Amino acid sequence: MYELIKRDGLAKRGRFTTVHGVIETPVFMNVGTAAAIKGAVSTEDLNRIGTQVELSNTYHLHVRPGDEVVKKLGGLHKFMVWDKPILTDSGGFQVFSLAGLRKIKEEGVHFQSHIDGRKIFMGPEESMRIQSNLASTIAMAFDECPASTKDRDYIEKSVARTTRWLRRCKTEMERLNSLPDTINPDQMLFGINQGGILEDVRIAHAQAISELDLPGYAIGGLAVGESHEEMYRILDAVVPHLPLHKPTYLMGVGTPANILEAVERGVDFFDCVYPTRNGRHGHVYTNQGKLNLFNAKYELDDRPIEEGCQCPVCQKYSRAYIRHLLKAKEMLGMRFCVLHNLYFYNTMMEEIRQAIEEGRFKEYKKQKLAGMEQTKN
Ligand code: GUN
Ligand code: ZN
Repeated sequence: MYELIKRDGLAKRGRFTTVHGVIETPVFMNVGTAAAIKGAVSTEDLNRIGTQVELSNTYHLHVRPGDEVVKKLGGLHKFMVWDKPILTDSGGFQVFSLAGLRKIKEEGVHFQSHIDGRKIFMGPEESMRIQSNLASTIAMAFDECPASTKDRDYIEKSVARTTRWLRRCKTEMERLNSLPDTINPDQMLFGINQGGILEDVRIAHAQAISELDLPGYAIGGLAVGESHEEMYRILDAVVPHLPLHKPTYLMGVGTPANILEAVERGVDFFDCVYPTRNGRHGHVYTNQGKLNLFNAKYELDDRPIEEGCQCPVCQKYSRAYIRHLLKAKEMLGMRFCVLHNLYFYNTMMEEIRQAIEEGRFKEYKKQKLAGMEQTKN
């Protein structure tokens, strides 16, 4: 299913074939947490800006509109009108970062909905059932992402439990995929590596989960407060212990610089809210650094966000017009910024793939970073 097409140093250029089509890697997944890309971006727009994979969340869709509702409507692909791959995160991370008052036990996590305070229980089996109802292409394992402040003893116990949870996820997904009314009987499970910033725990866990022979593996629990250098040190240590001939996914990362550093260390998949969140605040990415379109200096600037950008926004609209929309709190301003930013990320990944194929990734990375460092904000 995963074909390693080319290596350039440790960087991988891969092709991951799924029932919903092919994913060329390295890839940036566009985040649509609650089955919507924030900023009034439709799936039709995604097709215009080169999106390969959309990412949604188990926890959010379970709370609203409910995974049973999505199943009755034919699954997430039909619901959102998106026929390309969808990855769903398991709910593990969101429960820890969003929900109130949680209690972690061997069977799973008891917590309260961030919408209405309702008591919810989610464990590996519940997460797999919800993701099976959503019928995503790739389902993520139910894991615990321990806070970066936890000590070694806590992290070791948590990681051991995450491994036991992963075995339960695998067993439950195999059962669900074989049921007659399952929408996507080919749903794939990706395991998640944890271990905080402890290299030995990370490596032992990577080795343990690799034995389960899953179609892909993620690295979780990073970009949660540690420094960039610590994150790169963990990637240096752990990526070589994950299967080379399967996709490696770095969850929740990151800035363009983070992505370039991680690609260089062998990562295939990424996702992050930065391009959408920054776009909603009028912050736009360019090869000369990030711009804040609220800035007064753009009042009479009739150039596009980025000269030469082929995105649908830069083809037509000026910085001055978008600045006006943002200042007037018109939704269109946010929408334009988000579209440009997602196009920027998707295009950077395309450039990365090309550079790896041509054996010039290091050069590409250096040049891209030098350009973007021109404005520091
Ligand atoms: N998203 C970002 N980090 C994580 C993680 O550690 N686990 C899960 N499930 N999702 C994430
Ligand atoms: Zn653009």
